[in-house]
Amino acid sequence: MTTHDLTRDALRSAVASAVRAPSMHNTQPWIFRLLDDGVEVYADRTRQLPAADPTGRALRVSCGAAIFNLRLAFAHLGYVADVRLLPAGRPPDLLARLTAGRAGPATPEEHGLHAAIPRRRSNRLPFLDTAVPLDVRARLARAAAAQDGWLDLILGPTALDMVAELVRTADRALVSDGAYRTELTAWTRPDDTCTDGVPHGAGGPAPEPHDLVVGRDFGGPPRAPGRGFETEPLIGVLGSHADTPRDDLVAGQALQRVLLTAAWSGLSASLFSQPIDVAPAREQLRLGLRRHGAPHMLMRFGYGVPAPATPRRPVASVLLPEAAHHRVA
Ligand SMILES: Cc1cc2nc3c(=O)[nH]c(=O)nc-3n(C[C@H](O)[C@H](O)[C@H](O)COP(=O)(O)O)c2cc1C
Repeated sequence: MTTHDLTRDALRSAVASAVRAPSMHNTQPWIFRLLDDGVEVYADRTRQLPAADPTGRALRVSCGAAIFNLRLAFAHLGYVADVRLLPAGRPPDLLARLTAGRAGPATPEEHGLHAAIPRRRSNRLPFLDTAVPLDVRARLARAAAAQDGWLDLILGPTALDMVAELVRTADRALVSDGAYRTELTAWTRPDDTCTDGVPHGAGGPAPEPHDLVVGRDFGGPPRAPGRGFETEPLIGVLGSHADTPRDDLVAGQALQRVLLTAAWSGLSASLFSQPIDVAPAREQLRLGLRRHGAPHMLMRFGYGVPAPATPRRPVASVLLPEAAHHRVA
């Protein structure tokens, strides 16, 4: 066993980093247990979205993003995290166990990505029509690969139109389901005094029929005349090499590494998962990309004005009592 000097406060600070991860509709579907030498990550099934996420895939991607933040927090505290996904003999909702491995200083990249955790946020506002340089695009793709994922950037108007059409079709299918609409409304908040859900102020402007890539409607205001989205958005599709529950956790880590790399590089990003949540659209996307494995997220990158932060539940409310054992509701 590795000796370490991780205090309870240090582990709580790691959990504070974890909860800044993105999650579908800002449900924050995670719960954590502090160990002597690490942290366990559990799925909080009470926060799974029955209409939008019946299989729990989005829940696991969100928890994967939180796991990547924990890895960075361990690095920041001076340890390489030993990460076990879905450890053997686990209780059903235990998704990962991170323990302090070898001691050593964080790399400059880990420092940069860790510092980007509080700055990263979903930016659903229009971006500038400024091209993202090739070296930054390559950095984003390398970030996905470093976590065993892939990121394909959609190049050229034909491919972009095809992807945009898939988003439109999938969004139409989702919105035609009353349970989906009720759920989306239930997680949309009029202001940011709640500790979860998407506040109107962060949800972006209301989608317009002429938008190329249709966003989810979080009840935002109509756009001022002339404030359209960029004409040639930079869209990336993030995926994993296989499609098991473990791959959802891998994809979530790759997603967060790409998002933090974007934030560290001065880029804004927003997420679209409608074509992932509708099975035929997801398969068409996979075939169009000629990929094995599975797409997990569409991402829009660009330069924009800072977007407001969304709230989070306090750390104390996402911690299991230390003596408690496992199964969460
Ligand atoms: C699995 C998953 C799916 C998401 N799907 C969408 C989406 O379709 N549209 C969107 O605007 N944001 C989407 N998001 C972003 C969340 O709404 C966002 O992370 C959450 O509201 C917290 O806000 P933040 O990213 O600014 O911290 C998704 C996030 C995750 C992890």
